[in-house]
Amino acid sequence: MQSIDEYRDHFVTFLDEFVTEKQPENLYNPINYILNLGGKRLRPVLTLMTADIFGGHFKNALNAALSVEVFHNFSLVHDDIMDDAPLRRGHKTVHEKWDVNTGILSGDAMLILAYQLFENYEATVFLDLAKLFSKTALEVCEGQQYDVDFETRNDVTIPEYLKMIEYKTAVLVGAAMKMGAIVANASKTEQNNIYEFGRNLGIAFQLQDDYLDAFGDPQTFGKQVGGDIIENKKTYLYLKAIEFLDDSDKAVLEALFSSQPEQVDEKIETTKQLFETSGAAKATKEAIKTYTEKAFKNLDCLNITEDKKVLLKAFGNSLMNRTV
Ligand code: IPE
Ligand code: IPE
Ligand code: MG
Ligand code: MG
Ligand code: MG
Repeated sequence: MQSIDEYRDHFVTFLDEFVTEKQPENLYNPINYILNLGGKRLRPVLTLMTADIFGGHFKNALNAALSVEVFHNFSLVHDDIMDDAPLRRGHKTVHEKWDVNTGILSGDAMLILAYQLFENYEATVFLDLAKLFSKTALEVCEGQQYDVDFETRNDVTIPEYLKMIEYKTAVLVGAAMKMGAIVANASKTEQNNIYEFGRNLGIAFQLQDDYLDAFGDPQTFGKQVGGDIIENKKTYLYLKAIEFLDDSDKAVLEALFSSQPEQVDEKIETTKQLFETSGAAKATKEAIKTYTEKAFKNLDCLNITEDKKVLLKAFGNSLMNRTV
């Protein structure tokens, strides 16, 4: 086993070889731009780490890890178009730096590149990876559609929200780990148990993403703080605030989320105050903890040594306390 930083370094070295200048440059430059912008590299690190955990060698999982990261970055390029987001990892989003059409086509090409990377595996492993990838990618699209549909609905429930974030975010975290297990030839039971760990961790991760979108530090967050509020996203923060607020404050929040006011800064400020005073911010923090602990419970079913479980828990805890 290696440290998280070591897995990330191995991954970035591998990624650097993949990112080469190609023609037409208006297709490939945006791809290289987004892949080189950095980010936490959470998913590929999980793929490499899981391959080692199940007795494989992380080096055999590099192509799968790269596939997951390329797919993730594809989803961000299209997500930023859909969310009208100006900033990603502290820099301009692809559609802002180029234009929307460039973002669409470069994103499409990334999705294909992600799939193509599985060709580096022999037939049985290829089949398992491709099947998991197709299922997961389709679920991500479903989650993204729910996310957009919810913007204009005012009757979204917590179970609906949880399903939405499971699909748009958590299944890919689960799949990233399961791919590591597949490459390492782990048993089906082990593959499914590690998927469940990743899925629950992924739900906690998206809850934290929602929390940071409102309460992150604009200097370090790397994305536009308040972006979800501007877009009327029905986050856990919002849904819990609606549940907890008295009728008059609830009406204020609902009115703010049913239109697009001129004064966006005021909308963000008032909303954040209501998220705090209602107890929604606190409830979100608690939900993050609950889902992280659920993930840790999944580890009980796994037949791996204690030191490996300690490593996975340390990773989970570090995600819970992240600021970017
Ligand atoms: C952002 O993912 C999109 C979500 C699913 C919340 P990350 O927070 O992993 O983004 P990077 O790759 O580190 O920038
Ligand atoms: C992203 O959700 C999910 C996918 C990209 C599939 P968000 O829209 O919350 O992600 P950020 O906050 O823009 O990174
Ligand atoms: Mg977004
Ligand atoms: Mg989005
Ligand atoms: Mg977000």
